[in-house]
This record gives sequence, structure tokens and C-alpha cells, in this order.
Amino acid sequence: MYLNGCWKSNQNGRKKKSNCITLSQISVLFLRQKCLFNIKFYCMKKIRLTTRFAEDVLKGLSSTPKYLSSKYFYDDEGSRIFQKIMQMPEYYLTDCELEIFQKQRQKIYELFALNSKSFDLIELGAGDGIKTAILLEHFVGQDAAFEYMPIDISGEVVSKLTQMMSNRLPSLKINGKTGDYFEMMDAINRYDHCKKVLLFLGSNIGNFNEQEAHSFLVKLHAAMQKNDLLFIGFDLKKDSNVILKAYNDPQGYTAAFNLNLLKRMNRELRADFYLDNFEHEEFYDVATGRAESYLFSLKKQMVNFPDFHRNITFEKGESVFMEMSQKYDLEMINEMAKNSGFEVVRNFHDSRLYYVNSLWKVRTR
Ligand code: TRP
Repeated sequence: MYLNGCWKSNQNGRKKKSNCITLSQISVLFLRQKCLFNIKFYCMKKIRLTTRFAEDVLKGLSSTPKYLSSKYFYDDEGSRIFQKIMQMPEYYLTDCELEIFQKQRQKIYELFALNSKSFDLIELGAGDGIKTAILLEHFVGQDAAFEYMPIDISGEVVSKLTQMMSNRLPSLKINGKTGDYFEMMDAINRYDHCKKVLLFLGSNIGNFNEQEAHSFLVKLHAAMQKNDLLFIGFDLKKDSNVILKAYNDPQGYTAAFNLNLLKRMNRELRADFYLDNFEHEEFYDVATGRAESYLFSLKKQMVNFPDFHRNITFEKGESVFMEMSQKYDLEMINEMAKNSGFEVVRNFHDSRLYYVNSLWKVRTR
């Protein structure tokens, strides 16, 4: 491209150099600069995220006992495996929430719309949105005035979900966002022009430990106005065999989901995990309601992170704590609501009493 001047045709059709610069060239230059700036910004952001990822995993793997943070499960590949988990027959949580939404959507709608027919729905960790679509479809059918703002850590998930919802519900106003829960807290905070209903489904609250769950709820509380509502899914304590099958399925999706984090470290951090040297196992403690996921090292081995000049040794049988999925009872749910400034409005159960969707409002007294 000729940048300093432009070529103009004279009357004879011959090209002649002129020193003027046209408006369209200015905009090309501007766009090029903007594009370069965006690429640079994108690269910087990516480097920052990679460094953060490396710091977090190296910290966890250097601790005793070793652990990894489950927030890194959800790269695009992890999110794909996760969608498969949610569709497995053993993973009863999805069916329970679907049943609650299908059978009780009218009551749910009435409570969401109480005091003000217009409200905005903000979903944290929206995933594939299949369950939420049942509610949205019903709300659209009721002529409710609302906007849907799904938030997820995976950009691919947000764009697929937006596509699916707009096909299914063309009149729905949808405004998806990518980011983790805490990054998105700011966006939620600023969202105060209309009553908002926050959705936190799938018993994702159970993937936080007690302290994390508490501080997360306190942050949500701080971002809510007096008429706003919070709708949370809680998986309930039950027969341990039912729980163990959901988190350790025979098809191996939950194992693949956990092992994908090792793959992700190989891919993004150039580590050299050999996946066959690790095995996934699930434990459930009936007394506390804690389901815990671990990877075990099948032999003594060393894993290298050459870019970070670090290596990590694993003893034979050594565990890496991956994630917990807390199971609750109603007393625990009430306590959590109370301790974080909320009040339970109503609990929606499935027919097997495996699960509850609990609607909370901001406590005023
Ligand atoms: N929050 C859900 C649960 O605890 C989904 C989930 C998170 C999950 N991590 C998982 C399901 C790992 C299976 C395996 O059940």
C-alpha cells in the first residue's frame, strides 16, 4: 500500500502520483492503527492471563497437599466436556433443576415479577442455558419485560448460548458477557436501572468452600438493591451411591473433565504431564456433605514447566485436590442466607427431594 500520497487517474486514464490523502485512506490508516492497538492489547491480556494461570497452578502444585483451582477447568475444551457431564443420566442435578423449572415455572415467574413486572435476569456461570431457556420461554409467553444477561468464563459458551437463545426466542433481549464471577461483580454492581434477579444455578455454589461461598454471597448482597432477588440451586444431601455415580461416571466424562486441566497446562504452559500417569477419584463424606474430586499420581514422577524453570515431583499415590461439590440440607441453606444478609422467600423442590432452587431476597430488618 502506498501511504504518503495517492494514485489518481488523469483524463488519459494514466495513473499519476498525487500528494493528497483521501478520506477513505485516513479511515484505513485509522482502522489499521486501531487494529494494531487491539492486537497489542489482546496479546498483553493473554500474557497476563497465562502468567496468572502459571502462578496459580505452580503454587497449588508446590503445596502440601497439592491442589489445583477448579476455575481453570473451564477452557473451551473443558466447557465442552462439562456440557456432556450435564447430559449424562447419572448426573441427576440437571434433571432435578429441569423438573423444578418445568413444573413450577408459573410460581417462579410470579415471585420474580412480584412488585414490578419488569426485571432483568443476570445468570452467573450460564453454561449451555438449556435449563434457563425453559424459564425464559415461559417469561416471554407472559409478556414479561426483561433482558437476559448470561455471564460465563468461556467466550465460546457465551456465543453459542446467545445464538441458541436468539434462534429459540427471537424477541428475547440478550446481552452476554465473558468473565469470571468476581470480574463480573462490577458489571452487576453497575446494573441498577431496573430490578434484577440473579441466577446462580446448577449447585455451582457448592464448588466454593464455606468461606469462599460466604464472601461470594456477601459480595452479591453488596451489589443488590432492596427489591432484587437471588435464585440459587443447591444439591441436597442424599444416598452416597447416587452422589458418587454423578461425579464418577462409567463413561469417564468426569475423569476426562479433571484430566483436561493437565492437558490445558501442557497446551498453554508447555508442561509435560503424561495423562495416563494420573487417575481420577471421587469421595463423599456423609456427615459433612462434602463430595471431593482428586487426581492421584500412579507412580513417582516429575513434571516439567521449562518456560518457568520449574519442575514438580509426585510421589506414587500422591493426591491433587481438584474440586469440591458441597451437598446441603435446608438448615445449612437458611444459615447461609441469614449470615450473608438474605432471607429465604421460598424453596422449590424436585419430586425426589434431591435438589432445591432457593429464592432469596435482601433482608431489610
Ligand atoms: N456445580 C456442579 C456440581 O458441583 C457442576 C460441576 C462442577 C461438576 N464441577 C464438576 C459436575 C465436576 C461434575 C464434575 O455438581
